[in-house]
Amino acid sequence: MQTTQTETQSETILTGDRATGPLHLGHYVGSLQQRVALQSIHQQTILVADMQGLTDNAHQPEKVSSNILNVVADYLAVGIDPQQTTICLQSQLPALAELTMYYSNLVSIARLERNPTVKNEIHSKGFGRSIPAGFLTYPISQAADISAFRATLVPVGDDQLPMLEQTNEIVRKINSLAGGEVLLECRALLSNAPRLPSTDGKNKMSKSMGNAINLGASEQELRAAVKSMYTDPNHLRVDDLGQIEGNVVFTYLDAFHPDHAYVAQLKEQYQRGGLGDGTTKKILEECLQELLKPIRERRQRYLDDKAQLIEILRLGSQIAQDKTEQVLIDVRGVFGLNLF
Ligand code: TRP
Repeated sequence: MQTTQTETQSETILTGDRATGPLHLGHYVGSLQQRVALQSIHQQTILVADMQGLTDNAHQPEKVSSNILNVVADYLAVGIDPQQTTICLQSQLPALAELTMYYSNLVSIARLERNPTVKNEIHSKGFGRSIPAGFLTYPISQAADISAFRATLVPVGDDQLPMLEQTNEIVRKINSLAGGEVLLECRALLSNAPRLPSTDGKNKMSKSMGNAINLGASEQELRAAVKSMYTDPNHLRVDDLGQIEGNVVFTYLDAFHPDHAYVAQLKEQYQRGGLGDGTTKKILEECLQELLKPIRERRQRYLDDKAQLIEILRLGSQIAQDKTEQVLIDVRGVFGLNLF
């Protein structure tokens, strides 16, 4: 699969998030900052994937419904501009569900079962023998999302590469049936930011594992999260020699502290002894408080005016409806089903 680091020409971009929880610092470094940068150069759409969120949450739908506006507020709070980026809601775009039905006929069950990301997720979610059909087939629905927007560039984490691969397989099948280019293949745009670990250092930061620092975290929550961060377990006294590798505080300082030379100095001091975890945590906390304060305040202001958030999502979804309907008509045509 072809991937790209930088782009100069204007492209059509689709990205999305499952609306299963508020966004966190991992999203901020991994995707949100990149989206803010991309929106002025490219045609960007962000899909709030509420239907995909249901594929493993249908028994607790409020986990999705209650987070849709949280996610939109997160986008706006970090600087995604609805004048430049179309923000739309998956469930309000019926063309996506219809395309999913057509594409389903082109994908074998065996192919779905081979998708490594889905395989891992099935394992970790403990579905046992009752895997929801919608879960196994969500890569088909994601192919519908991507192709329906005629996206050429999809900024994603590396766990999403199998989805893009499946998308392009479907696109090629449709084009081969059509005998011409009806749909466009896409490329992944991988973020070059390293994945942010969870505060306990055991996993990546994840909404589902409850180990994340949300963008809307309160001052106190942020303080507690930094205090609880995993450091070097053998660094017991200030004078002990300290380890940087696997030390979450330093990983975060690398990701968020604007002064790299200062962080390099701190590392050196920590390694040779003489710098306590209390101090490094304090420095990190200050830097994160400064980053999150304006984001938290803007986010709250948006959430205080839900009608405005809904209007932004409604207008974006209207634009998206027009685009995706057109692709649906084209795909129906490929199957000869455009009688009227
Ligand atoms: N699967 C993506 C995730 O879990 C969300 C998503 C849904 C998406 N549709 C998309 C991402 C289309 C990019 C393009 O984060």
